[in-house]
Amino acid sequence: MEILRRGGNAVDAAVAVGFALAVTHPSAGNIGGGGFMVVRMADGTLAAIDYREEAPGRATRDMYLDEAGEPTQERLVGPKAAGIPGSVAGLALAHERFGTLPWADLVMPAVALARDGHTLDEWHVEDVVRGAKRMREAGYDDSARHYERPDGKPFEVGDVWTQPELAVTLERIAREGPRAFYEGDLAQTMAEQVSAAGGIWEAKDLAAYQARERDPIVFDYRGHTIVTMPPPSAGGVVLRQILAAAEALELYDKPWRSVDEVHLYVEASKRTHADRNLLLGDPDFVELPMEQLLSVEYVQRRVADIDPERATPSETISAGIAPGKEESHQTTHFSVVDEAGNAVSNTTTLNLGFGARWVVPGTGVLINNEMDDFAVKPGTANVFGLVQGEQNKIEPGKRMLSSMTPTIVLRDGDLRAIVGSPGGPTITTTVAQIVRAVVDYDLTMDQAVESVRLHHQWLPDKIWTEERIPAELEEGLRARGHEITKRPAMGHANCIEIDPQTRGFRAVADTSRDGGKAVAY
Ligand code: GLY
Repeated sequence: MEILRRGGNAVDAAVAVGFALAVTHPSAGNIGGGGFMVVRMADGTLAAIDYREEAPGRATRDMYLDEAGEPTQERLVGPKAAGIPGSVAGLALAHERFGTLPWADLVMPAVALARDGHTLDEWHVEDVVRGAKRMREAGYDDSARHYERPDGKPFEVGDVWTQPELAVTLERIAREGPRAFYEGDLAQTMAEQVSAAGGIWEAKDLAAYQARERDPIVFDYRGHTIVTMPPPSAGGVVLRQILAAAEALELYDKPWRSVDEVHLYVEASKRTHADRNLLLGDPDFVELPMEQLLSVEYVQRRVADIDPERATPSETISAGIAPGKEESHQTTHFSVVDEAGNAVSNTTTLNLGFGARWVVPGTGVLINNEMDDFAVKPGTANVFGLVQGEQNKIEPGKRMLSSMTPTIVLRDGDLRAIVGSPGGPTITTTVAQIVRAVVDYDLTMDQAVESVRLHHQWLPDKIWTEERIPAELEEGLRARGHEITKRPAMGHANCIEIDPQTRGFRAVADTSRDGGKAVAY
């Protein structure tokens, strides 16, 4: 708000929010992780910024397998789990392309938050206490201290939390510019500390890191234009396929959240996730059959064998194209729009909550555990249960496949909605369900965000849904042969819509998790 009030645009505000969340929301906001940003400027310019982490130069395909060939915990906990972070470079690229205020002005508010601290509410206390506990369980007491009172006791509501080391790091990024994170003594120190603690970062990996601007995936869906993220996120491909399937199966004729509607959507999602897991990876490393994967005719063929009355067992489903010879809820999403209609959809993560649970000594930088988003052992499940293939195997310098799906919806060339969510693989299905709720059922954004969510990712062969699923829907789906597992909630979709009649903004903070906020200026 402060940045918009000072005359900054939506991208300036998004950059400032990105840095602020690195201070206030350490379980997901970060400078030690990565993400994806989709931008639509009021003049119609579209951009997709890829700031996904990269495998360090010393990474190898089997680096997380023990002598028996089984994945070890090193893929998730500790410095070896971390890819080379992209967040600082990504926010800098967004600023360079579209920002209007000076860089330092966007980073300094985060410096103040870290240096002067902020008062912890109930949600924050729960979050940092959980983070510190996980770090201590992992044996990282020094890291835990950043998330505890100076006397080592857990924080309580009303405490002011300061992060002096992070403040110094952020101030260097503000004053010296974004490359201070990647080159020079800060980068050298981070690489040395990570390696000394068992990781494999080298200063040259950090120096080589660049955020990339990619061509966004743009397609039509029932009178709307969807602008979303291409690989190395799988999000856009999955969203495109689910929406093309929804159109082919005429889902919009079935009542919203009825057994018929959900059954067909789940069957489509299974098939699309077989493609996701076996065919996608970093486009700079593997060939991706993008034209086919995004074609309506291909999706129509893929969904032609769906039985409207019976679940197809996942074991009988595979990718629709032969793979080439050789991809909890601890991410965060924010949406920003300004008066002029410039829009940002940004999803960022450390992977699991508090990432690798390890803070680079002396810097306050909490690092990611994104390496588990690679297929650390192709053909076996990662922490999200995703069974991925060789396309997403570990290679030096490669970016691990993601599900993050920052998305912007246009209607008749005008901005209609900004959508996104955290939630690992459930991100893309959450986005697909919200887009369908708004486009197909004319739900307002708050109704769309509040609707029960269901997720199927091909393997394991079951629907994940939320506790609040209506009994009738649950029973109807079970009767058609679906296995169902319930979680308290899925995703945290902080979205904005522009009312097509009034052109007024409706900002929605998902209430399924606390900690979100919808604000207007
Ligand atoms: N780390 C979760 C994702 O990128 O999909």
